[in-house]
Amino acid sequence: MTREEMIAQLGPLGPLAGIWEGGKGGDVAPSDDRGIERNAYRERLVLEPIGLVENHEQKLHGLRYATTAWRLGEADPFHEEVGYWLWDAAAGQIMRCFMVPRGVVVMAGGTVEPGARHFRLAAEVGSATFGICSNPFLDREFRTERYELAVTLNTDDSLTYEEHTWLKIKGQEKLLDHSDTNTLRRVG
Ligand code: HEM
Repeated sequence: MTREEMIAQLGPLGPLAGIWEGGKGGDVAPSDDRGIERNAYRERLVLEPIGLVENHEQKLHGLRYATTAWRLGEADPFHEEVGYWLWDAAAGQIMRCFMVPRGVVVMAGGTVEPGARHFRLAAEVGSATFGICSNPFLDREFRTERYELAVTLNTDDSLTYEEHTWLKIKGQEKLLDHSDTNTLRRVG
């Protein structure tokens, strides 16, 4: 399959294929004293079509992705993810399974129409399908309870995302809304 043919099979995920960058990221994260800190960041996101994936009767079309984020003015990244976006046309489902190198894996899913320009995915700890696993330290001290992502494909070849990673910090009653938002422009 050519790259164009692979993109045509990706349904609502087709427009994601490419390289994206944005410098107006906004992050709210746990601070050193387990309060909150705010970080401005830049980000580079690469999504490459991988074609058809078959699980017996289930046919998925996917993109391999990697994103890297840097605090503004810093040379070393402070966040990254690698994973896959998947489209299941028969079920009308999109999925994103990815890893954060802190030792967290997320399998998030949502339902969407083929031509949608806006989609939402979610995952919840303890779910056998759209779930989350944290390493033993994080499970004890900063457990990711829920993950929510909304992506909008804008009309000017940019995309905007807003994500909420709900953290249960040991000893704190309320969940911390570790949130991230950015607008990325296609650069390739
Ligand atoms: C653009 C997206 C993200 C950025 C920029 C980001 C950034 C950060 C920052 C700055 C911290 C505070 C600790 C530190 O200074 O390193 C943090 C903590 C944390 N993040 Fe993220 N994060 C992002 C997405 C995620 C996602 C998607 C997950 C998991 C699903 C996640 C899980 C965690 C956890 C469990 C902690 C607590 C550990 C700690 O505070 O040391 N983050 N993140």
